[in-house]
Amino acid sequence: MQKRALLLLLATVSIACKEIRDNPPISGAQSAAEFQEPNRPQFHFSPPSGWLNDPNGLVYHEGVYHLFYQHYPHATVWGPMHWGHAVSKDMIRWEHKPIGLFPDENGLIFSGSAVVDIQNTSGFGKDGQVPLVTIFTYHSMQGEKVGRQDFQTQGIAYSLDNGDTWIKYKGNPVIGNDGVKDLRDPKVFWHEETQSWIMVLVAGDHIKLYRSRNLRDWDNISDFGQGQGAQGGVWECPDLFPLQVEGSEEEKWVLIISVGNGAPNGGSGTQYFIGDFDGITFTSDQIPYKWLDWGTDNYAGVTYNNAPNGERLFIGWMSNWQYALKTPATTWRSAMTLPRKLSLRKINGEYTLINYPLTAVESLAEETPGEQVTIPIEEIYSKMHPSLNQAMISFTLPKQDFKLTLSNEKGEKTAVLLDAASQLLMLDRTASGITEFNYEFGNKLQYAAPESLSDTLEFSIFMDASSMELFVNKGQCVITAQLFPNQPYTHLEIENLSNGELRITELKIRPMPSVW
Ligand code: FRU
Repeated sequence: MQKRALLLLLATVSIACKEIRDNPPISGAQSAAEFQEPNRPQFHFSPPSGWLNDPNGLVYHEGVYHLFYQHYPHATVWGPMHWGHAVSKDMIRWEHKPIGLFPDENGLIFSGSAVVDIQNTSGFGKDGQVPLVTIFTYHSMQGEKVGRQDFQTQGIAYSLDNGDTWIKYKGNPVIGNDGVKDLRDPKVFWHEETQSWIMVLVAGDHIKLYRSRNLRDWDNISDFGQGQGAQGGVWECPDLFPLQVEGSEEEKWVLIISVGNGAPNGGSGTQYFIGDFDGITFTSDQIPYKWLDWGTDNYAGVTYNNAPNGERLFIGWMSNWQYALKTPATTWRSAMTLPRKLSLRKINGEYTLINYPLTAVESLAEETPGEQVTIPIEEIYSKMHPSLNQAMISFTLPKQDFKLTLSNEKGEKTAVLLDAASQLLMLDRTASGITEFNYEFGNKLQYAAPESLSDTLEFSIFMDASSMELFVNKGQCVITAQLFPNQPYTHLEIENLSNGELRITELKIRPMPSVW
């Protein structure tokens, strides 16, 4: 009781203090020793302390990748939202910065994006200094409490020192609300052809597109999505961008949309639509639902603005609203997925969004020679390794039934299974370690049903202290899942479940360093 009262007091003080100091050093750089708590990821981004959810304001500027994130610094559960902030030169080694945006009189700071306003269209730039501008959702707790529908509006802020300090625009909110519940998560990008800023904004079960010349005045130009795709929950965190189809000149537009409930393995997940955008309207005649990641733990992911070499770089929040508040935690809770590069591939006539960790992640992994292993029918190949929870495990094999199990001395285990005939990939974390905190987490088998798998399959599995990211064929099919073993897995087994010899090549267990 006392603790709750204290939390409430701290939250109020944090809001009240906003005008006095906009950047108190709540989150500062951490020493490696502080990143050794149980389950603390060693090569994924996690907050120094407190709560984290969605990645926000992903933008690259002057050699720096910015990562803002939904953050409650005073407890390990969701609370009045701030934008935490970190910077990196490679998206792998992050430096924690003081909090970027604090709640203010308009509300809490929900998810949004950031742009580099190169032409100073906003007029926020001074003395030739290019402004960084964030566009975010204001969430009014009071409005929500008294049952209003219009409690979410959109605001902007700018920085003239590459993100270190932020000034909120006096004319906020820049987009008001005429009664739309769940009007949030603006993603803004520069559209060269029309020389304008385009915003994709969620409006409950669909998205609204807006256009602006100056980031301050916005017009609603079109809507998309009512009745389309997975609608099991509210839509959240949209992103819209072009990608060239691999090996061709064809360009398509991709709309990423997170959906709060009804993902293939339960709870929240990220779907996408492939279509076209003419500067005003996004259209897609896609019928099947498409999922960026089949696993339970990749939500609210969006991509970088202004990334070098035109690359489309993605980060997601590695959790699920089904149990996000309940996962084992000490001084912090939740982490981001590995940074991934997106590309578009046509597989059997179907556009497929590919996502795979940046080359820089793979090059962190210690080089080890690849092993060739032949496993007779019904036999098991087995190998010990001191820390399978901080490694990249990779191998290539023909499309045949198998089961890979990672386990520890306590008998806790996580298994990956392939059923070749039905092209189903499964993940079993029911005995993976700490699972009792949530029924869905500990009792459901996860599955992925990728489109047309090739006859030879390449597996890459990135294991960190509390997560597994599994990629087939470098991102054609992905499963991201949290795991909480009580001690690291040290034993790897591959069981041949097919009716022929199983020949595995290039089997590698490559230890990953800690980046903290
Ligand atoms: C997605 C989300 C967003 C919202 C934010 C609040 O996880 O619900 O829609 O802006 O989290 O923290």
